[in-house]
Amino acid sequence: MALYDKIGKNYGKTRKSDSRIARKLLDLLESTQASKIVDIGAGTGSYAFFLAEYGYEVIAVEPSETMRNQALSHPAIKWIDGYAENLPLCDRAAEAAIIMLALHHFQDYQQALREVCRVVGNGKIIVFTYDPAMISGFWLTKYFPSLIEDVESTFISISKLSNEIQSVTENSVNVIPFRVPHNLSDSFAVGWARPELYLDINIRNGISSFASIDINEVEQGVLRLQADLQTGKWDNEYGYLRKQKQYDVGYRFIQSK
Ligand SMILES: C[S@@+](CC[C@H](N)C(=O)[O-])C[C@H]1O[C@@H](n2cnc3c(N)ncnc32)[C@H](O)[C@@H]1O
Repeated sequence: MALYDKIGKNYGKTRKSDSRIARKLLDLLESTQASKIVDIGAGTGSYAFFLAEYGYEVIAVEPSETMRNQALSHPAIKWIDGYAENLPLCDRAAEAAIIMLALHHFQDYQQALREVCRVVGNGKIIVFTYDPAMISGFWLTKYFPSLIEDVESTFISISKLSNEIQSVTENSVNVIPFRVPHNLSDSFAVGWARPELYLDINIRNGISSFASIDINEVEQGVLRLQADLQTGKWDNEYGYLRKQKQYDVGYRFIQSK
């Protein structure tokens, strides 16, 4: 059973595409002549849908039926049940690829990158991911310390991943930090300035790292966060974040070419 068949039942409710991320994607794609995009690990298709609405033809590859079933249908999106490591697509089936917060879930990301290259030929590859070196500085880990180990062991370092993409594509690669807006609508890092959101089980359930932490640690962390919000301790330490419009939590776009 695919992981997201278990943890993704309500994904579509909390993980909606964010227009700022989607616009950045459009910016990055604009420099190519691509009109056909493959979205790998497309989930519920929130970014595929945005691109389709914008006029792109999208092939959305997603192994979890639970995730595919939550997708909004769109005439310009073709859904495919498949894994990144063995894409059921012919060579040059698309002109560019996006992998949005999915590569860290792949069993063999190097094989997946080779497959993506085969499918897009010399086309652009855009990966949206997290820099694991940033996690220990995020206040959330004070309440849920195991997030550090989970994130550090799950996400690939940005330099390693950039080098891998460069060696597979034989194209230059650049890394673009994405500063998360305070009112992000895709809930993956939604609460950096709105800690109350992490008290909501639906928000936590939309973030796969929470599923990896021991339930007792999660319960204890939620109680401590709740107490610190009530006493004002959280605001004393981190309240300055509430006034910021955006913040570098650690998200990065990596693009080839
Ligand atoms: C965090 S979700 C991201 C979904 C979507 N890209 C988004 O940004 O909303 C990660 C997705 O990767 C999918 N996934 C996991 N392993 C995969 C693999 N080997 N090949 C393709 N997709 C995979 C999961 O089923 C899940 O839907």
